[in-house]
Amino acid sequence: MPNILKYKTVIQLHDKQFVPFISANEIDFAIKKMVAQIEDDFFDETPIFIGVLNGSFMVVSDFLKLYKKPCEVSFIKLASYEGTSSTESVKQLIGLNQDLTGRTVIVIEDIIDTGNTLEELKNLFKSQNVKHFKIATLFFKPDAFKKDLKIDYVGIRIPNKFIVGFGLDYDGLGRNLPEVYQLKE
Ligand code: IMP
Ligand code: MG
Repeated sequence: MPNILKYKTVIQLHDKQFVPFISANEIDFAIKKMVAQIEDDFFDETPIFIGVLNGSFMVVSDFLKLYKKPCEVSFIKLASYEGTSSTESVKQLIGLNQDLTGRTVIVIEDIIDTGNTLEELKNLFKSQNVKHFKIATLFFKPDAFKKDLKIDYVGIRIPNKFIVGFGLDYDGLGRNLPEVYQLKE
């Protein structure tokens, strides 16, 4: 569990206040740990890392700067559209225009909360005939997670709190913060 920082900086985003929660050092340490695990597990492969936009841009950037083995990178976005005969929104992948047959695909997520997005990603990649499909996430909220699905690499487990910074936003704001803040209670 991350240290709760004691200093009193409060930032305002829209109508809400946020306080410091996870330092840049802790984030760096967590990313280094994930890089070491993945380099170790796939030392004889050339993985394709796939970042899920928008939130993952910062973790993907830091991750790749530390990853020393041959690799590729690409980004996708999930878009939902209304089905014609049901009110259920169906997810669609935008930006995956590469043949992944036989490849080692490692999705890099900023945060896994309920696991809905994770489930959709697993379904969407099912038909791609990849060799390995792994999921790495910088942040994970175990108390909010509702799925019976495996998450292969987790940076930092956090309590069920709303956080911003390091790519994560509150209604568009906060993505540029280099540290993570939590909603002030
Ligand atoms: P899911 O519930 O696991 O499907 O997560 C859905 C998405 O909600 C994530 O990809 C994030 O974009 C967003 N999200 C979940 N928790 C937080 C948070 O604490 N702060 C900001 N965005 C979040
Ligand atoms: Mg996301």
